Amino acid sequence: MEFKEVIYKRRSNRFLSDKPLKKEDLDYILEIAQRAPVGMGKYEWTRLVLLEGEALKTVQNEFVKEIGKDVSYGGSALIYILHKGASDTIDNLDGGTIAEHICLAAAEKDIGSVFLWSVTRTKDNKTINDLLQKREEEKIIAAVTLGYKASEEVRDVSHKIKILKVK
Ligand SMILES: Cc1cc2nc3c(=O)[nH]c(=O)nc-3n(C[C@H](O)[C@H](O)[C@H](O)COP(=O)(O)O)c2cc1C
Repeated sequence: MEFKEVIYKRRSNRFLSDKPLKKEDLDYILEIAQRAPVGMGKYEWTRLVLLEGEALKTVQNEFVKEIGKDVSYGGSALIYILHKGASDTIDNLDGGTIAEHICLAAAEKDIGSVFLWSVTRTKDNKTINDLLQKREEEKIIAAVTLGYKASEEVRDVSHKIKILKVK
């Protein structure tokens, strides 16, 4: 698939099936996630946690209990991005590059995804943090929910970031 095609194919799909993803597709997505650039090349500062099966169901139930809805849109895999913390800026930027790599790899495999900031709303949830094996010094930056698309429906957004060209 052409690079531009992958870019245009990546949309936030919020109608995700709970059917497990193929292992080879998940392995591919995780490999691409690991290739994301991070600030100062400090790969040891970030950590990804893949949740599936019972662990994912437990987390989705905690979302419902604490936020009132499943913010992962019922997918079948949830990848958390944790960061040891250099500065809020670096931590968040690293989370951004990693999450986008995940979303683009998923798009290439025709797997639905959504970049989730909302998971930080349950950052103090012990059940979730225990599953993530979150250490004291780590912060939850974001997560990406993944799943086969139960519908092709996506939100109507303009995708027009303003550009100023100066010579
Ligand atoms: C930093 C960031 C955080 C986001 N957090 C959420 C979120 O918590 N929940 C959600 O449903 N979508 C979230 N999104 C998805 C955006 O709403 C979506 O990417 C944007 O509206 C563009 O739509 P598209 O992804 O379909 O192209 C987030 C996206 C980014 C880049």
